[in-house]
Amino acid sequence: MSSLVLPRVIGHRGVAAMAPENTLAGFALAARSAVGWIELDVQLTADGVPVVFHDDRLERTTDGQGRLVETSYVDLLRLDAGRWFGESFAGQRIPSLAEVLTLLVETGLGLCLEVKADEQRGAQTAVEAIACLRHIWPATASPPLLSSFARSAVAVMADQAPDWQRGLLVEELPDDWHDVTRRLGCHSLHVDQCLLNEQQAAAVKGEGLALLAYTVNDRERAETLWGWGVDALFSDCPENLLGAPSL
Ligand code: G3P
Ligand code: MG
Repeated sequence: MSSLVLPRVIGHRGVAAMAPENTLAGFALAARSAVGWIELDVQLTADGVPVVFHDDRLERTTDGQGRLVETSYVDLLRLDAGRWFGESFAGQRIPSLAEVLTLLVETGLGLCLEVKADEQRGAQTAVEAIACLRHIWPATASPPLLSSFARSAVAVMADQAPDWQRGLLVEELPDDWHDVTRRLGCHSLHVDQCLLNEQQAAAVKGEGLALLAYTVNDRERAETLWGWGVDALFSDCPENLLGAPSL
């Protein structure tokens, strides 16, 4: 059995339906809401600074252009990462991981950290994210849950942060999920809720893994997934789910 103690709902990229995703404003809003944990995405800038950002490119959520991994940290600081969502969020920047972790520690929010990288960049991104966490995350705080689609990143987590639990992110459950999660010492599997069925959920749970599903904003769907044994749901709008009755 997994010893992970998870909340039923995790705010996705902060509270992505309520505030610009992966921004300090979004995480601060999450801290004032009923959600106890948030998820965020970590990437490295061109000069190796871990920052909190989802997309490969800057266009959708900032006023910049190009690829994040080809942009230096000082150049990212010039970008607005809030106005696209609403004028009241103008001035939000792409935050460094260090800034976000400091806010999370101050507010007591729990953390599911996603290393957002391809297999090639996964290992180095995980190294830098773990170094930043070691520096800021108190030993007395609830331990973070680390995750990635990149197996290279999960392998680094197993090697360099064996004391923190880790999960493999997938879209559809791959044929080798059992072997991979065992080899990488995963405590959890994080799957796309659209591509999950009840039998798969039972199989994952039967192996003693925690099961998390993204992204669920609908209360009825949440109740179905919890009914299948899914432990935690990533949601852009946790308040839609948190009012759901216990099953
Ligand atoms: O960590 C769960 C979820 O965030 C994975 O998908 O694309 O929203 O980062 P994505
Ligand atoms: Mg993510």
